[in-house]
Order: sequence, then structure tokens, then C-alpha cells
Amino acid sequence: MLTHKIAEATTFIQEHSGSFCPTVGIILGTGLGALVDEIDIAQVIPYEAIPHFATSTVEFHKGKLILGTLSGQKVVCMQGRFHYYEGYTMQQVTFPVRVMKALGVETLFVSNAAGGLNPQFKVSDLMIIEDHISLFMTENPLTGTHEPSLGDRFPDMCDPYNLELIGKAQATARQLGIAVQKGVYVHVPGPQLETRAEYRILRQLGADAVGMSTVPEIMVAHQMGIQCFGLSVITDMGIPEILEKASLEKIIAAATKAEPAMTALIKALVGNL
Ligand code: HPA
Repeated sequence: MLTHKIAEATTFIQEHSGSFCPTVGIILGTGLGALVDEIDIAQVIPYEAIPHFATSTVEFHKGKLILGTLSGQKVVCMQGRFHYYEGYTMQQVTFPVRVMKALGVETLFVSNAAGGLNPQFKVSDLMIIEDHISLFMTENPLTGTHEPSLGDRFPDMCDPYNLELIGKAQATARQLGIAVQKGVYVHVPGPQLETRAEYRILRQLGADAVGMSTVPEIMVAHQMGIQCFGLSVITDMGIPEILEKASLEKIIAAATKAEPAMTALIKALVGNL
């Protein structure tokens, strides 16, 4: 049963961290890799050591859970996240978030790379996620046997991204002189990028950015009553009329350019909870 697996993973982490009790969770997606350097680390646990954590792809042999203190808050960070396109089930993708809740997490910060759909955006912009579209998911992390201790059967998605945190992020960005956009993120399963026709329809549906992560974790976190904040870095523009061939180098360069601003913003927000 899912609750048993969560309990086993949680007990293991508590036993290996001196019962460290984090209240803030961070998924270090694209753009937030450098935030690790800001953490006063108490414990690092490789994913493969944790019961029921998925590990099988090459990339995830370096996946680690990092427990420590950031801006005066006790945090648990995922260095390396699971994506659906890697072949994991949505249950596996979101399992660490369920464990975070069991460890004591009340607030979750998530970052990602996304394609820009809003023509006013440009590459390397930061976008505060104000809402999302999950309709294109081919599998849903909330389906299956309902376990009431994990949240509602029909969880509301009225405000999955905490409005107070969005307001604080805008104010903090202003103080730090960081320009931020705000918009709707649409989740696609990937791994291929979109065709021109697909970018066009996603924009027509009301999305400002498109990507392959974050929404599963946010849905699960919100179901469990965790307050969430999401930040995208726009790594390429999905404007049909001027679409260019995707280049991994360009995407990484765009994310790297935005990394200092992203790191500063999340660090300040964590300190101001
Ligand atoms: N589409 C989907 N996912 C992405 C993109 C994109 O254009 N850019 C970065 N992640």
C-alpha cells in the first residue's frame, strides 16, 4: 500500500538524518542547481538507498536527497527529479513529494525549464507559475485507490499555487531588481518538443509556457495541503511563425543565464516564509 511505502521511506530518512524535521521542500529543477551551494548541509542521502524511491535511469544514479538549512529554514531538497518521459509511472514521479509531506514539509518550491508561448516573453525570462493545465497528461498521479490520509478523493485545484507566495515573490523580485513574468504552465508528457501546430493550440488554450514536469508534483502536494510555489525559466520560444530548431546547447545556455536570479529569488523567499 502507498501509505506503507511512504512510512518506510520516511522512517529510513529520519533514521539517517538524526530525525531532522524539514518544513520546506525544494525540487531543484532546471535553473536551481546552484542553490545547493547556499545550503548548510546536514545530510545527503542517495536515492538508491531510500526504500521505494525510483532510481533506474543513468541520470538518477546521481539523484540525492539533501537535508539542511537554507536562509534559516530547515529544508529537504531533491537534487534530480523524476520525469514521466523517462519511463517512470506518475506514482514514482510524485512519491518523493508524499515523503516530503510525511517528513513535515508545509511549503514546496519547484523550478523547471519551459518553452515560451506568450509572445511577450523572451528566452531566459523567469515566469512565476500562477496556474497550470494538466489536461494533456496521459497518466495521472491522483488516480488509483483512494487513501484518505493523503488527501481528498476529488482534490480542489482552485489555487494550487499559493497566492500569498506569488505576491511575496513579485515583491521580492522587485526589491532584488529581478524581472519576472507570471503565467499559466501547461504540462505535456514529452519527450519530444511540440510541433508548430501544437504550440499554436497550447497558446490558444491559454497557456504562457509549456514543459514536461512540475504539474504532477504540484497536484500531489496540493492534494496533501502543502502550499506550493513554481518558477519556470523560459529556455526557448514556441512561437509557430518563427520556430527554430531546438538545440540542447541553447536551452542549457538560456537556463544557465537565468540561474543566479532564480537562485537569489528562491533563497530570499525561503527566508521570508
Ligand atoms: N516544450 C516542452 N518542454 C520544454 C520546452 C518546450 O518547448 N522547453 C523546455 N522544456
